[in-house]
Formats: sequence, structure tokens, C-alpha cells
Amino acid sequence: MTSIDPRQFRTTLGQFCSGVVIATGSLAGVPAGFAAQSFTSLSLDPPLIALCPARTSSSWPKLRDSGSFCINILAANQKPVCDLFAKSGVDKFSSLAWRPGVTGSPILDGVVAYIDCDLEAEHDAGDHTIAVGRVRDMAVLDETAAPLLFFRGTYGQFGALA
Ligand SMILES: Cc1cc2nc3c(=O)[nH]c(=O)nc-3n(C[C@H](O)[C@H](O)[C@H](O)COP(=O)(O)O)c2cc1C
Repeated sequence: MTSIDPRQFRTTLGQFCSGVVIATGSLAGVPAGFAAQSFTSLSLDPPLIALCPARTSSSWPKLRDSGSFCINILAANQKPVCDLFAKSGVDKFSSLAWRPGVTGSPILDGVVAYIDCDLEAEHDAGDHTIAVGRVRDMAVLDETAAPLLFFRGTYGQFGALA
């Protein structure tokens, strides 16, 4: 088997531009969540999405145990929210406005859109897992907001080609 240099792996995969989401949940009434880029649409029928939580995530086990999670798509002006949720072991919710969605998972104020899901399945995938969510509720909250983008280790925003 060819061995892959970890730095080359990160550099090469960093050429792929993505949005940034906050995956949230609520276990016994206590909100939890973390920043992620590994989010994708998966299936229309049934309506499924996927997210890849790291095995080191301290928040994901709480979302998993609650049986549901909500994907919050960040707007370009929400980099501070991304920075907050990219930390581990800190209070991430007391400084933010949010409301519970249908699953009880937090919907953060100011996001472009949210996708509230029940956890359908979780598959092993090396140092991450692949969590499949079945959509229970979703909405676009701001059709005009630009999304926060992550590319080559830095943040930016979308500009349409002429
Ligand atoms: C832009 C960006 C993308 C990230 N993508 C993921 C991801 O897809 N999966 C993941 O588990 N962590 C991802 N992280 C890292 C987590 O946000 C970070 O490890 C966080 O501290 C985890 O918090 P927790 O321990 O409360 O779960 C990402 C961080 C950033 C800044």
C-alpha cells in the first residue's frame, strides 16, 4: 500500500473549498455543538444528509446520544461563531442567541439555513465516523446572506462569476 504523507494529505484536500457548519444538539437539555466542514447532501428520497465527526470530538457523543442533530450553515459574517465552535471544552452557547428546533437541537441566530435531523446511522471511517441524518425540518433563514467559505486553511466568501 502506498504511504501518504499527512502534510500532503492536508495540503491536497485543502484545495477543496467548502462551506462551514455548526452541528448542534441537546442532551438532557444541555446544548452542545462543534464546527465542521465535512457536511454534504446525501439523498433526496429519503431525505438524508451526512456529516463526519472526528473520533476526538467531545461534543459529537452528546449529539449521538440525544439521537438527533441540527446542521447550521454559517454566514460570511459568522467567523467568530466558527472560531468559538472550533474550540473544545468551552461554554459555546451562553454568548449566543439560539432557539430549539423540532428535535430540540439549537438553531443559531444569523445562520443562512438549518437542517434538523434524526440520527439514522453512523459508520466507521478511520479517525472519523460518517453520521447520516434523516431530515425532519429545514429552512432557509436568509436567502441573501453570503455563506462562510473555508479554503486552503483560510476563510472567505463567495463571489459569482460574471
Ligand atoms: C473550518 C473547520 C472545519 C472543521 N471540520 C470538522 C469536521 O468536519 N469534523 C470534526 O469532527 N471536526 C471538525 N473541525 C474541528 C472541530 O470543530 C474542533 O475539533 C472542535 O474543537 C471540536 O469541539 P468538541 O470537542 O466540542 O466536539 C473543524 C474545524 C474547523 C475550524
